[in-house]
Amino acid sequence: MSDPELFRQAFRRHATTVALLTYRNDDGAPVGMTATSMCSLSADPPSLLACINRETRAHPEILGKGAFGVDLLAISQRSIAYQCGTPGRDKLIRPAWLARDAPADGSPRLAQSLAHLECTIDGSYDAYSHTIIVGLIRSVWLNPVEAPPLLYHGGVCGQRVPAAGRVERFHWEIGGE
Ligand SMILES: Cc1cc2nc3c(=O)[nH]c(=O)nc-3n(C[C@H](O)[C@H](O)[C@H](O)COP(=O)(O)O)c2cc1C
Repeated sequence: MSDPELFRQAFRRHATTVALLTYRNDDGAPVGMTATSMCSLSADPPSLLACINRETRAHPEILGKGAFGVDLLAISQRSIAYQCGTPGRDKLIRPAWLARDAPADGSPRLAQSLAHLECTIDGSYDAYSHTIIVGLIRSVWLNPVEAPPLLYHGGVCGQRVPAAGRVERFHWEIGGE
């Protein structure tokens, strides 16, 4: 791949769920970094991958802790994804976003997330601008209330309109009804 713009255009067509990597900073305050590079690795042992840019503040903080949480975000958490996904912005997780019943010794968990995965770092591999982190999943929390996931597609976070729905609307407009 020699053309970065073609690379970006191709990945704008790649829909992913939006995750928040959570941890506590050196003052013990809950912090999050938005990430779409997260994916499952294996079921046995339960594990996942996340790729973190080495220039982010989260990079030394998460690797230094050796543990982090992964919150799978719901559509209602869009503003959190932007707050915690913009370089230079304050990444503190507001008290109103937090689950009150989350264990105090774990990584921060958000109240409205679809799921929370508690991980310890089992390996890290530098690759180009990023570090690939292998997270061994220690515990899983599932929100009993189901909600639509927050998706990243076309350069924006939102809720993807299913292709079938868009085609139907198109025919409806052509037909003029
Ligand atoms: C939708 C979205 C997805 C992102 N995915 C990643 C990712 O997978 N890995 C990464 O390193 N940064 C990702 N970022 C960028 C980081 O969230 C952002 O650079 C980081 O919060 C900057 O932190 P800093 O201000 O502490 O340096 C993403 C940002 C957004 C908005």
